[in-house]
Amino acid sequence: MEQVLYDYTRQDAQGATCTAHAWAKVPPALPPAERARTVERIKALLRERDAMLVAHYYVDGDIQDLALATGGCVADSLEMARFGRDHAARTLVVAGVRFMGETAKILSPHKRVLMPDLEATCSLDLGCPAEEFSAFCDAHLDRKVVVYANTSAAVKARADWMVTSSCALAIVNHLKEQGEKILWAPDKHLGRYIQEQTGADMLLWNAACIVHDEFRGLELEILKREHPGAKVLVHPESPRSVIEQADVVGSTTQILQAVVDGKADTYIIATDNGLLHRIRQLAPGKTLIEAPTAGRSATCKSCAHCPWMAMNALQGVLACLEQGSGEILVPEPVRSQAHGCIDRMLAFTASHPGSLAKPGVVPHLGSA
Ligand code: 13P
Ligand code: SF4
Repeated sequence: MEQVLYDYTRQDAQGATCTAHAWAKVPPALPPAERARTVERIKALLRERDAMLVAHYYVDGDIQDLALATGGCVADSLEMARFGRDHAARTLVVAGVRFMGETAKILSPHKRVLMPDLEATCSLDLGCPAEEFSAFCDAHLDRKVVVYANTSAAVKARADWMVTSSCALAIVNHLKEQGEKILWAPDKHLGRYIQEQTGADMLLWNAACIVHDEFRGLELEILKREHPGAKVLVHPESPRSVIEQADVVGSTTQILQAVVDGKADTYIIATDNGLLHRIRQLAPGKTLIEAPTAGRSATCKSCAHCPWMAMNALQGVLACLEQGSGEILVPEPVRSQAHGCIDRMLAFTASHPGSLAKPGVVPHLGSA
């Protein structure tokens, strides 16, 4: 395995960090009466506009509840892509980050795809600019290009395969069996985890998720000692020192399923704490503990929440439906070029239904 160092700036033109910019754009919580009115108005507009709400587990709990109450979905990035592609609605309101909206548009160019805030991005997407990535691909033409879902449409346009955290292991294994060498981007932690699990020849881009990168192995060790019966569930965008202590490594859906199916009473969860909303609904009797992070200060133990996911609010959903704001457009030929790698992943997962990592099982660690 070789790792390519790639440094990217986290500051905007005014010198503010991109996360500070995102936090400053998070809308204030609505007072209860206004919140209830907004929810009812959104429900009515979803019906009127033949629209579906497609939400990620990390967004505001009110949006998740609204999506489920109106026939939409709350899911991981793989299922969001599938749901958006297969649903007959003419408009999709995607509550998540930009690459999720772009994926929906790439798969369904005839549908209108709206997002509460078009500036909701992802540090992995920011850390993999298309031009540099394309030059990297040009320098390694002997390798299959596998990109994580968390990338721009222009990066996907250069890729042979797109993967999400729930199917990356199976797809890389499949490529390895075919004797392929792999160029992987952008998440270095997920790439290293997949490389170690599969033994594939992988060249890794060097970007990280600013949320998962904050989880800390040492503090997790201490927390585990305080809760000896707890199972540790980790998203694979986390550092190796955290993954090594996991009972389960998986996508957001796989983590959720591991709690629902698990026999333990207590779970330490290393992923964005937005997921806890849905887990609490589906596994109400279980105790959930957020994994420790380095955080924004030495005292911050559990501040794992994505600022770009936090930009999604009821106000933004309402604006999409009322004004048609936040429309995602992916121009040709990028759209059709990017379609190939997403379609390949969806065809693979459909034809290998057992290929998605079983929640509760980590290849090198056994059952939870
Ligand atoms: P999932 O595919 O597991 O939902 O992950 C998406 C993501 O952005 C995690 O940080
Ligand atoms: Fe990107 Fe991390 Fe936010 Fe997921 S949690 S959208 S990987 S920055």
